[in-house]
Amino acid sequence: MDALGTDQPGTDQPGTDQPGTDQPGTDEPGTDQPGTDQPGTDQPGTDQSGTDRPGTDRPGTDRPAGSDALVDRYDAVLLDLDGVLYRATEPIEGAADAVAELRRRGVHLAFVTNNSSRTPEKVAEKLRDMGVEAGVEEVVSSAVATADVLAARGGGTAYVIGETGIREALREAGLTVLDGDDPGEADYVVVGVDSDVTYARLRTAALLVQRGATLVATNADPSYPAPEGVWPGAGALLAVITTTTGREADDIVGKPRAPLMHSALERSGGSRPLVVGDRLDTDISGAATVGWDSLLVFTGVSRPADLVAAADLPTYAASSLAALFEPPVDIRPAEADDAAAIAAMLDEASLQANGVIDRIGETLVAERNRRVVGSASLELFDGWIAHLRSLVVAPDLRGLQVGTLLVARTVRLALDRGASEVDAVTETAAGFFDRMGFERIGTRDALPAPILSTPMVALTCSESSVAFRWRPPGALVAREAPGGA
Ligand SMILES: CC(C)(COP(=O)(O)OP(=O)(O)OC[C@H]1O[C@@H](n2cnc3c(N)ncnc32)[C@H](O)[C@@H]1OP(=O)(O)O)[C@@H](O)C(=O)NCCC(=O)NCCS
Ligand SMILES: [Mg+2]
Repeated sequence: MDALGTDQPGTDQPGTDQPGTDQPGTDEPGTDQPGTDQPGTDQPGTDQSGTDRPGTDRPGTDRPAGSDALVDRYDAVLLDLDGVLYRATEPIEGAADAVAELRRRGVHLAFVTNNSSRTPEKVAEKLRDMGVEAGVEEVVSSAVATADVLAARGGGTAYVIGETGIREALREAGLTVLDGDDPGEADYVVVGVDSDVTYARLRTAALLVQRGATLVATNADPSYPAPEGVWPGAGALLAVITTTTGREADDIVGKPRAPLMHSALERSGGSRPLVVGDRLDTDISGAATVGWDSLLVFTGVSRPADLVAAADLPTYAASSLAALFEPPVDIRPAEADDAAAIAAMLDEASLQANGVIDRIGETLVAERNRRVVGSASLELFDGWIAHLRSLVVAPDLRGLQVGTLLVARTVRLALDRGASEVDAVTETAAGFFDRMGFERIGTRDALPAPILSTPMVALTCSESSVAFRWRPPGALVAREAPGGA
């Protein structure tokens, strides 16, 4: 068996990940060869044109005209591993081909993992076993990035809670790894996941921190999934030190923090990155931390319902990596010029198409190859109830997660406008709203009174339509919706 092979703690959705053989503590220290990778000499540019695109309320649209594959907007793709390229020991269908296609197109690549336990050689070997061509120098783990951070500060001595991956990376970067009994003092205490950790080592680490060592964590994932439940992750071991000393970590390197993202881009040699991952709280939030675009794939941990409640939304969402080679779909605020296209789509779907222009300021559209291919609108009542309505995706583009991202963005817009709940009613798309994590509150008449009395609902919704509500998790609801169920 292989060392801790997943960078995915299992706190989000234990059980959706099925690792199995990727566990810590089974690596044989000393058999890993130290990394031979040279950090890219190319400095990442200041070109952030990847973040300059329509659809995210950011100015500028200076992307190549006529580009028709999503990936053409970027020169580097930073790929998460577990949940994107494989699940535990099973390759994800199409992933190897997608990586091969990225290479064929000359895209810079980095394989980015929060797991600090394995060396880049081991990770590359695992990827090759899965059919994914991967160079050692393309693997950027939280161990590699931690070594980058500390080397940039001039190196020094480090007392390490962690496995081969972090130890080798620090030595490669010129740091002195202190082993054995209490060394008296150290410049750094570095904490990563360690399946052989002992009380004595944790005690020494805590004492060194009290004596002034800088406390650095490779990552802060609380746990990671094992077949029988979740196991303590690097964050849990870090908590031993912070709980003991009352001191927070000085640096946390892994996703969703910035240092791993920066190391990954620099080592990829690119300058316009797209982050690809399966987890909202690490991959997608990591991209958001540094202001880069991201693609969420639903082949791993995060589910559509998580998207609606996420702290950070991805730029794109897709069922698989194949979306990289398809025309991108951008979601952006609607403009008056879009009204006719929106009305035509609603009409085609037998939804009420009156008044589109009146709601245009509260409407989002999805655009693909300069064609409006989806839309959703909000009506706001009493300042706190939002009615999500007129959700539609062009028939030829259904099933591509366009509706999913539209709903997530529209819910975000509702919260930004001060709403504390979002309601919807549908005759045909109940399964879709279930999947998005909306709660069924009954049939049409269970809707809050202000929504129920709108002409659209009163006149065009059948009594048997299903009413849905979404509230932010943990939201305090000061009062019941008027007329609500
Ligand atoms: C409902 C609608 C907006 C979904 O848009 P979409 O872009 O096709 O949806 P996504 O690709 O994001 O999501 C697809 C998923 O939702 C599910 N889904 C889509 N429409 C569904 C429906 N009517 N009932 C049940 N599930 C549905 C799909 O099975 C798929 O699930 P999977 O990914 O787990 O296999 C689109 O089907 C549509 O325009 N329908 C007609 C208009 C309509 O009914 N609007 C809602 C009125 S409020
Ligand atoms: Mg993952």
